[in-house]
Amino acid sequence: MIEDWQNGGFGVYVHWPFCQAKCPYCDFNSHVVAKIDHESYKSAYLFEINKKSAAISGRSVTSVFFGGGTPSLMEPDTVRAILTALKERFSFSNKAEITLEANPTSVDYTRFQEFRDAGINRLSLGVQALNDNDLRALGRLHSVEEARKAWEIAQSCFDRVSIDLIYARQNQTLRDWEEELKQALNRGFSHLSLYQLTIEDGTAFGDRHRRGRLPGLPDEGLAADMYELTQSLTSSAGLLGYEISNHAKADEASRHNLIYWKSGDFLGIGPGAHGRITLNGQRMATENQRAPTVWLNEALNSGTVGTMAPVSARDHATEVLMMGLRLAEGVDLGRISLICPDLIDPQGMSDLRDQGLIEIVGDRLIATPRGRALLNSVLVALID
Ligand SMILES: C[S@@+](CC[C@H](N)C(=O)[O-])C[C@H]1O[C@@H](n2cnc3c(N)ncnc32)[C@H](O)[C@@H]1O
Ligand code: SF4
Repeated sequence: MIEDWQNGGFGVYVHWPFCQAKCPYCDFNSHVVAKIDHESYKSAYLFEINKKSAAISGRSVTSVFFGGGTPSLMEPDTVRAILTALKERFSFSNKAEITLEANPTSVDYTRFQEFRDAGINRLSLGVQALNDNDLRALGRLHSVEEARKAWEIAQSCFDRVSIDLIYARQNQTLRDWEEELKQALNRGFSHLSLYQLTIEDGTAFGDRHRRGRLPGLPDEGLAADMYELTQSLTSSAGLLGYEISNHAKADEASRHNLIYWKSGDFLGIGPGAHGRITLNGQRMATENQRAPTVWLNEALNSGTVGTMAPVSARDHATEVLMMGLRLAEGVDLGRISLICPDLIDPQGMSDLRDQGLIEIVGDRLIATPRGRALLNSVLVALID
């Protein structure tokens, strides 16, 4: 019998925690520092890979994802050393996807070729807006022109290029977003990540919002219209909305994110990285120190990195359900009941079906487009 994680496969996430500037909306584990000791960071990543791969070496890697922060500020040599270390410990599947997140500033895009030579074959570029005023309001250091240059260089260097855009921005109308999204669709990207702006506590936008100083955000109705418009324009352009915020041509979905959404196993390397690894049939959650220097000192001086704790069957099944319902293909009910037979409330499921928020197709539970937009309440009603 296969182990549960094999339904989602196995990948590696590597977190690079530094950026040139902190964007006011961002609550990722990202920091701005005057100087980075690249050699020490490289040694710490290699130590962590060595330490964490021992119990699971020999598995086949389908994806490696360098995320951040801004990993396009890494030394290409560090990226190469990490990939070499991973290849020594794991086999890589034929079409392994190796992604790096990049910012479209010149500091980043002058290195694209070196990243390709180091083994990167997919680039995810944080463009965010196609309008210079809005880029400034989002605290971005690049213009639309620089973003265009970055994606053109990226398209000449990498097999696969995706861009991120943020919508539901201050003072953005439905018409503005329609124009902007059409421009992006006309560029022929095979993958787009389109995120609705969320105002996170603890960010500069969160503070301004609390003080009433972030005017012009869309109300719920306009945000919902923008979401719907996003789904219809992308699907007319042949990009399937395979997940709430992600759209791709056939076979171009991000294999890495599919590992998360299908609850596979993933090794989480670097400051603040989380992981899920099945050891002797037990799913384990790993978590690293968030502060870069604390993680670095731990890796270089204490002989261990982060914490590891078992995930209960109920929490595991909840994760499989929560992540799987984000996908257009939904989630296998048989898989969930194998992990935790009494997780789902049959009455809740029947009510949600009557309300048109979910459907059952064969053994799959699928959130309808409206259900996916209301996923949190769907989950509350489903879980017993
Ligand atoms: C780790 S960041 C991307 C990498 C790179 N540092 C950049 O900014 O271009 C991942 C993506 O999450 C999205 N994002 C971050 N914070 C967000 C927020 N508060 N609301 C919506 N999208 C957000 C952005 O589109 C961003 O590109
Ligand atoms: S959005 Fe990207 S560049 Fe901006 S702070 Fe977050 S991780 Fe850094």
